[in-house]
Amino acid sequence: MRTLQQSTYDVLICADAAELAREAARRFAELADIFVNDIGRFAVALSGGSTPKAMFHILADKPFADALPWRSIFFFWGDERCVPPDHADSNYRMANETLLSKVAIPRENIFRIPAEDEDHERAAASYSETLQKFFAEQKPHFDLVFLGMGADGHTASLFPGTAALHANDRIVVANYVEKLQSWRITLTAETINRARNIIFLVAGEDKASALKEVIEGPRNSEKYPSQLIEPFHGSLLWMVDEAAASLLK
Ligand code: 6PG
Repeated sequence: MRTLQQSTYDVLICADAAELAREAARRFAELADIFVNDIGRFAVALSGGSTPKAMFHILADKPFADALPWRSIFFFWGDERCVPPDHADSNYRMANETLLSKVAIPRENIFRIPAEDEDHERAAASYSETLQKFFAEQKPHFDLVFLGMGADGHTASLFPGTAALHANDRIVVANYVEKLQSWRITLTAETINRARNIIFLVAGEDKASALKEVIEGPRNSEKYPSQLIEPFHGSLLWMVDEAAASLLK
């Protein structure tokens, strides 16, 4: 494992996806303890994807399952596919099956996106309200946001060339993604950037070219929306595997 330190972000390179998932679980646990000790709670936004899934499996097992302050951890999502919560594509379902249903988390600590609502704008508005209520009418500021990145440079459901990239006056938006021919509900980059900690989990050779463009390339956030992620006050950590990092300088 090696770390590249930059002025505004760090890159942690793990040998492979399995080490990446273990290290991400360790960081989650560390941050949960710090925030629960400091402010009495830990609010985290999860993403979909394969690397988080591996991390959830690790968190659902010993030692984390017994040791973490689950009652003080609050779960949200960075984005959701517009399907019911029991659908195979649901990000909520994946987290619920692999982690949330297996540890002692009160159901009232789980805030899923109501993406099954066929009125997508209403679903986004409803989740904005949920967040505003939780954060006591302040702008939502998660303690930790986990993000993945697609091979096209998208993150959360901020896809290249889509309207959500320009919706920073909103907390959550419904975003139509032409290439998927479907709707997604997503936090805006502005909401993500208010987080205290942001961690990207990126594994696999197919991500190498986008990762290089996002981190080392010229600014082009319309094409590589992951470039929009620049926390206002918090820290940004890219956790990647050797395969994804293979084109970095
Ligand atoms: C989703 C996401 C999405 C995901 C990336 C990377 O709902 O699909 O939240 O942004 O994180 O597509 O996914 P992988 O880690 O599986 O490649």
